[in-house]
Amino acid sequence: MSKETNPSKQLFRVVIVGHVDHGKSTLIGRLLYDTDSLPEGKYEELQEICKRRGTDALEWSFVLDAFQAERDQAITIDTTQIWFNTDQRDYVIIDAPGHREFLKNMVSGAAQAEAAILVVDANEGVREQTKRHAYLLSLLGMKQIGVVINKMDMVGHDPEVFDKVSKQVTEYLNSINLHPSHITPISARHGDMISKRGDNLDWYDGKSLTEVFDSFEPASAPYAQPLRFPVQDVYRYEERRILVGRIETGILRTGDTILFSPTNEKAVVTSIESWPKDESKVEARAGESIGITLDERIFVERGHMGSHDINAPMLSNVFRANIFWLSHKPLKVGHSYKVRYGTHEATVTVQSIDRVIDTDDLAQHERAGEVARNAVAEVTFRARDLLPLDPYSDNNRTGRVVFYDGYDIAGGGSVNMDGYADQRRDAPKSENIYKVDHLMTADIRAQRQGHHGGVFWFTGLSGSGKSTLAMAVEQALFEKGYHTYVLDGDNVRHGLNSDLGFSPKDRAENIRRIGHVAALMADAGQIVITAFISPYQADRDRARAASPDKFHEISVYADLETCEARDPKGLYKKARAGEIEDFTGIDSPYEAPINPEMVVDTQANDVATCVAQVLRYVEQQVELKASEETKGEKAIAV
Ligand code: ADX
Repeated sequence: MSKETNPSKQLFRVVIVGHVDHGKSTLIGRLLYDTDSLPEGKYEELQEICKRRGTDALEWSFVLDAFQAERDQAITIDTTQIWFNTDQRDYVIIDAPGHREFLKNMVSGAAQAEAAILVVDANEGVREQTKRHAYLLSLLGMKQIGVVINKMDMVGHDPEVFDKVSKQVTEYLNSINLHPSHITPISARHGDMISKRGDNLDWYDGKSLTEVFDSFEPASAPYAQPLRFPVQDVYRYEERRILVGRIETGILRTGDTILFSPTNEKAVVTSIESWPKDESKVEARAGESIGITLDERIFVERGHMGSHDINAPMLSNVFRANIFWLSHKPLKVGHSYKVRYGTHEATVTVQSIDRVIDTDDLAQHERAGEVARNAVAEVTFRARDLLPLDPYSDNNRTGRVVFYDGYDIAGGGSVNMDGYADQRRDAPKSENIYKVDHLMTADIRAQRQGHHGGVFWFTGLSGSGKSTLAMAVEQALFEKGYHTYVLDGDNVRHGLNSDLGFSPKDRAENIRRIGHVAALMADAGQIVITAFISPYQADRDRARAASPDKFHEISVYADLETCEARDPKGLYKKARAGEIEDFTGIDSPYEAPINPEMVVDTQANDVATCVAQVLRYVEQQVELKASEETKGEKAIAV
């Protein structure tokens, strides 16, 4: 009675998750039966078991028990898979969430489900385990999610109960950035709305569960994705230079302009070399190992990533990864590891451990000090140089990374760039421009004013006291006769930067502009104090590069709890309520300065103390040296 799986049909992998008592096993058993997918003899076996155990009605979850017995003896992930099929395609149900092996395979990308079903009990609604499983789906970057509200028979098939639970589930899922495509009322036990619609849910006119399955989109074929050609080696062959590698995704053609990352250099493909030689070859696709020649001798080496101009990988010296840790030595903040993906290799340092998930009970621990063996974690890594990176959700081949501690594999994971901006800089658009020297040098100006200009860059969480401190220091300096001005985030965003929001890209642009404005003002002799959250180290480093000799990074420190308790503008409250997105510290990262010139602790000290500290520091930095005073006079005299 079981249907054979059809090898010519597409294979689609789904994972079914949910609270342990919410009927997952019953659902799977019923799904197999209703789609005629039970292996030969399993139905009879089920009747037999039920008879033996003295249950009147068929217990569909026993089907799974029968599978479980086989599974317990198995070691590999493959045998935890259960097959069923619809007319449209074959499905594999991966049924082991919370199972360590499953997590390892999912997080490292070795096993990949394309969609997930979350089972919620109509009686009980969202429970702790529902949340944990849902969070896991979000961590795994799951995009296609269907929710089933099960046990509708236990609530009299009441549409109002369905609406209430649907709303509750949707609210929770949206809060962790999951957006279910369908919410289906079902009764797994009686087979309503699984593959047949049944007689009890007439008021529901949406898709049945198998129709929901069939509506999920299969992942696009590797060749249909953006081009990724990781360079494995560069061969010199007579006069020619051939770049060899395997195309991971996409299609490469002769005549294409290829952008290499991280160097950001481009050249045109003049030929595709293949073995055996094929003169007519003008195109190569994902999976092919090829060589290419270029029209220009640009610098390319092993580890560089070739792509097209559009849809290039991101460039960043910081990235987050959802990792599964394997090493006996725990991962710790400040420790360095080697990361490998494709042909790329780099040394990265752990910047922060953002969350650790215990794989036994899926409990989450924020701000954990370390990641122990077999834990899943969200970790932020920092590299010295820019790395070409693809978020796993964009590219499941190049978005996978492996960590090494020495020569040993220490962990695996997938790249998640949420909250981080692409640091690739386009070549400047302005051409034919020449720099003109001022006749009045900075020294001359300093002499006239009696002090140097400078940029005193405050960075810290919203509510850490940047603006308060900046305005007070400005006043104190002014009263002492200094030329000074504050550039403040909220103020600048009313005018110059009113076109910018709070996405990582907009924040980068906000800081880029202010970095240059501050540099110009400091060059003009002003003591510029800036008060911007400026959450990214890379952006602050660029601001520093705009005034290399005059830049001072000042960390205005108060921890998140303190800032949230202060909440001077009521924004944290709004952010927690989901009314503001991308709020720093809540759902957008803040990178504390790595090596600031000064730290002002507004949590431990009162405002007057902090102002005095900063004032002292600023005065020391802008002070004219005795030798400069005479030099300045001479310059003016000339
Ligand atoms: S930055 O990140 O680009 O440096 P900036 O300092 O200019 O931010 O602006 C931060 C101010 O904007 C905060 O003090 C707060 O008043 C307001 N704000 C509004 N939305 C957000 C948000 N999503 N994240 C942080 N601050 C926000």
